[in-house]
Amino acid sequence: MTAFPKIYVAGHRGMVGSAVVRQLLAQGHPEEFIVTRTHAELDLIDQAAVRVFFAAERPDQVYLAAAKVGGIHANNTYPADFIYQNLMIQTNIVDAAFRNGAKKLLFLGSSCIYPKFTPQPMGEETLLTGTLEPTNEPYAIAKIAGIKLCESYNRQFGHSDGIDYRSVMPTNLYGPGDNYHPENSHVIPALIRRFHEAQVNQAPSVTIWGTGKPRREFLYVDDMAAASVHVMNMPQVSYRQHTQLMLSHINVGCGHDITIRELAETIARVVGYQGDIAFDPSKPDGVPRKLMDSSRLNELGWKAHVGLEVGLKAAYEDFLEKFGSRY
Ligand SMILES: NC(=O)c1ccc[n+]([C@@H]2O[C@H](COP(=O)([O-])OP(=O)(O)OC[C@H]3O[C@@H](n4cnc5c(N)ncnc54)[C@H](OP(=O)(O)O)[C@@H]3O)[C@@H](O)[C@H]2O)c1
Repeated sequence: MTAFPKIYVAGHRGMVGSAVVRQLLAQGHPEEFIVTRTHAELDLIDQAAVRVFFAAERPDQVYLAAAKVGGIHANNTYPADFIYQNLMIQTNIVDAAFRNGAKKLLFLGSSCIYPKFTPQPMGEETLLTGTLEPTNEPYAIAKIAGIKLCESYNRQFGHSDGIDYRSVMPTNLYGPGDNYHPENSHVIPALIRRFHEAQVNQAPSVTIWGTGKPRREFLYVDDMAAASVHVMNMPQVSYRQHTQLMLSHINVGCGHDITIRELAETIARVVGYQGDIAFDPSKPDGVPRKLMDSSRLNELGWKAHVGLEVGLKAAYEDFLEKFGSRY
């Protein structure tokens, strides 16, 4: 028997998956005990191919960080892709992992599983207590199904087969490997790109949608990866003390939120943009506040370490490395 578990990181080229691989290596997990496949090598929507892969590799642990991910525009334009692909990817992986002896699995969900209007900060227990945000409902439903998939396999096979499948729900993430697509990106990469372009073109001002008043929470992706490894490796007895069989997911956030105005000012500072920042209140703001209650995870011994400005600097360096030469 080897001293190290064989770990499959699904989605290892994505922002979170690549951070999980970095984290495992940084913690001393040997590279030869990490299994990966690119999308071109293994389409996770293809159930037969996923079964063949798991039967051949038989990983002990799985980080499920592969998903169809996107911002509001992409979710609104491709709802069928978002629900179909995510349901397929996670169902294929969870079932093939179980059939081929993977005892531990960590499913990555998202804060959009919670009702649109719910008390803040959002605790795990608010799942399925209200109506979801309509724009990303198909994606959120797939993510809720992913949690329930893990819980159902645990309930049916946890005792007989010794499996322990867990779920984490990250807040908004950012950092190296983010998506900077002009239409399909999240708020931080979109603002990094816009401020960078404004700086290069010496634009006198940058206008941001909405009033700048909504409050949002952001977590650096390497913190997310560290939290994922922490939850995966946490002893079952502690995990069970803080979760329930049918309410088992764990929120992962930094614990505090900031306004979009504060975020924009910080990004402008990191990028070195000195022009004006204007807001267009005729554009929608979204919900006034979105903050995770991460006390469950804090009680389980983990908290975020990377401050926003430090994280944004690392994200901007990564942006410059990849796209700087285009400007
Ligand atoms: N980014 C955030 O702010 C955020 C916030 C909360 C939760 N999360 C969750 O974290 C997880 C990872 O997100 P991320 O930001 O790392 O996304 P990402 O950068 O888009 O990475 C997703 C990865 O999954 C792969 N993938 C997608 N469909 C596949 C398929 N059919 N077969 C094989 N591989 C496939 C992608 O490969 P290709 O690019 O080659 O398709 C990509 O490498 C997701 O579950 C997401 O819901 C992310």
